[in-house]
Amino acid sequence: MTFLFIGGAERAATMRAVFAAQAPDIAFQTADSLDDPASVRYIAAWTPPADMADRYPNLALLFSTGAGVDQFDLAALPPHVGLVRLVERHLIDGMVEYVTGSVFALHRDLFAYARAQREERWQELPVRPAAHRRIGILGAGELGRAVLSALRPFGFPLAAWSRSPRTLEGVTHFNGPDGLAAMLAQTDILVCLLPLTPDTTGILCRNLFDQLPSGAALVNVGRGRHLVEQDLLSALDEGRLSQAVLDVTAPEPLPSGHPFWGHPRILLTPHIASVTDAEGAARAMIANIRRHAQGAAPDGLVRRDAGY
Ligand code: GLV
Repeated sequence: MTFLFIGGAERAATMRAVFAAQAPDIAFQTADSLDDPASVRYIAAWTPPADMADRYPNLALLFSTGAGVDQFDLAALPPHVGLVRLVERHLIDGMVEYVTGSVFALHRDLFAYARAQREERWQELPVRPAAHRRIGILGAGELGRAVLSALRPFGFPLAAWSRSPRTLEGVTHFNGPDGLAAMLAQTDILVCLLPLTPDTTGILCRNLFDQLPSGAALVNVGRGRHLVEQDLLSALDEGRLSQAVLDVTAPEPLPSGHPFWGHPRILLTPHIASVTDAEGAARAMIANIRRHAQGAAPDGLVRRDAGY
């Protein structure tokens, strides 16, 4: 029974050590050491392996080494192969740190103060209590829910929107298109933590920005393709949005000369909001292999119909 890791050498070495210590019954292989593709039951990769169906006839589970699975073409994946998102503590904690950090920086006007400092302007802005800063999260999956829990003690009015109805403690939950409009109308800081699917591609567009209160801010930690770039630029330039924090772009890296680089109201980070921890990933994958062996569904199994 072989687990094939396709990825960087450093990550492979860390994962190999975890497998050796915790799952000696599973042969950990990398592409250069693999001699019998038919023995492969599990693959972990960020991008889809070529000729997967023909090359690995006994593949049971394909693990994404990240939280997202939009890089895989679900239609090209054999129906019997389970695709599994990475659900892992470090990945969740990283996202909580990045999003809460961004929310606080926006809430306390730190981006506006950074601009004022550059212009040598000593200017106080009114302080808004947290109870009057409404946070709306697009997406209420593992990451969205963890961010909401972290923000709850501070007293922000919290809302979340997702496809299906949910009950979340201390959070007003919305679903469906009408729910989206209702949430946007009462959101001062909007955070995108949606999976990228055909339904969510381009969701951060003029129509959506127009439904936010004037001066709202955006944090995009989903995927670059959630955003219609020109619409964001217009919304910022016209003052309808006050600030954007973007950790993702399309393509990545962002090409030189792109208007986002130098924009005074955009903070850009290079897709580092949350980064996979190799040790944690190996542990999560071993736990899922054990679950699968007992006939249980792996944690993070992708629903093919939903695409995430
Ligand atoms: C990163 O974006 C991931 O999907 O983990």
